[in-house]
Amino acid sequence: MAKLSPPKISACKKDARKIVMATAYDYPSARILDDAGMDILLIGDSLGNVVQGKTTTLPVTLDEIVYHAEMVARAAQNALVIVDVPFPFGQLGPEEALRAAARILKETQADAVKMEGGEKRAATLEALVEAGIPVMGHCGLLPQDIRQAGGYFVQRQREQLLRDVAAVEKSGAFAVVLEYVGADIAAEVTRSTAIPTIGIGSGPACDGQVLVFHDLLGYVPPEQTRLPKHVKRYADLRTVISDAVKQYADEVRQSVFPDDRHSF
Ligand code: KIV
Repeated sequence: MAKLSPPKISACKKDARKIVMATAYDYPSARILDDAGMDILLIGDSLGNVVQGKTTTLPVTLDEIVYHAEMVARAAQNALVIVDVPFPFGQLGPEEALRAAARILKETQADAVKMEGGEKRAATLEALVEAGIPVMGHCGLLPQDIRQAGGYFVQRQREQLLRDVAAVEKSGAFAVVLEYVGADIAAEVTRSTAIPTIGIGSGPACDGQVLVFHDLLGYVPPEQTRLPKHVKRYADLRTVISDAVKQYADEVRQSVFPDDRHSF
């Protein structure tokens, strides 16, 4: 399979081929995801939540996202690799966003960046595209605006969402994530735009779907007991890992491991 490019992702919409995207943060998991046929790997700033154990994406730094993106980009043979522009570079205006996005592409070998915001960040999105940087937009729930929003709520502002996605399309972005948008509105937005919509918690009508690696595999800390409605668990890695390391501990304590087969 040839390496995917932003134009090939855009073309999926015309061909009615669903786009599959997952987050990735390190080399071995990115290798597995890439071999399994993901179209897009996203080094999301959800890094803050699922890898660093923080409560929001806001503390994730440019250095941290670059560090993780370099590993993922090196692992991906086929998937398009997209990196989140971390807070507050998208908010600081075209110059700072361009500086951050250029550093990401230069130091990681990733293919594109993703930036949160619609209508009000149109000038910044345009500046990135103008500079030759492929951009994926991100509308609906914006985790980087969480302090202002006051919580993770389903987005139902139909007119605003239509305007936001139209602005993202006009800026030259090749696709857009729709996060936590009511399924009926996400369907209307998807029909209204020529670029693919990638949904997370936004229903089945989107042109593709994205899930966070740790959520879809159940690789979550014990205190995370509530499964968010948008997540489907395809595995229970917490139990698999916990059972395996408990067995390891038992075998060491009972002098079962290492045996002759594992000794020199
Ligand atoms: O940071 C992230 O993982 C994301 C996805 C939820 C789309 O932005």
